[in-house]
Amino acid sequence: MIRLGILLSGRGSNFQAIHRAILEGKLNAQIACVISNIHEAGGVEYARQHDLPVHALTSKGIPRAEFDSKVLEIFKEANVDLVCLAGYMRLLSKDFISAYRGRILNIHPSLLPSFPGLHAQRQAFEHGVKITGCTVHLVDEGLDTGPILAQTAVPVLHGDTEETLSARILAEEHKLYAATIQTFAEERTAHQ
Ligand code: GRF
Repeated sequence: MIRLGILLSGRGSNFQAIHRAILEGKLNAQIACVISNIHEAGGVEYARQHDLPVHALTSKGIPRAEFDSKVLEIFKEANVDLVCLAGYMRLLSKDFISAYRGRILNIHPSLLPSFPGLHAQRQAFEHGVKITGCTVHLVDEGLDTGPILAQTAVPVLHGDTEETLSARILAEEHKLYAATIQTFAEERTAHQ
């Protein structure tokens, strides 16, 4: 069974959705390890409540390469096969990406390549697009540039605010991420 390493910095609703999908039998995976660079992150609290292995490591003031090598060490120790970024607000070092090349996923709240970077929902909203969505992609050295694995389109509705639009996208993120991880796991098994 594929072993997931989750990286997060915040509320962790995507991480929770992945965990729920596992509990519901929709995703055949195991959460091997959760790492947050923010101690107070909601995702850390959730992991503790559900007895999932979690580490909160302070990243502030620590060089990226040093921090990432610590993360790498913990993930290797936990036999992580696939790294899932779930609201992880840091760029990864080159060494980390090399170590897990082709095995790092991210979820982004827009239809990439439109609106990469921070506040993707706000960017889409302010641009006035009528359709936006979410994307799961492989992580490379760029910012939200890696190969796209899956996308869901979400309409921008009359009367939307950035908040209502973000909530509609988030509901789709939760479905798309778990489903894409399941597909990734199945393809990996087929090629083994
Ligand atoms: C999500 O919108 C995700 O697409 C983006 O960061 C946000 C994280 O939310 N990468 P959560 O912590 O999973 O609730």
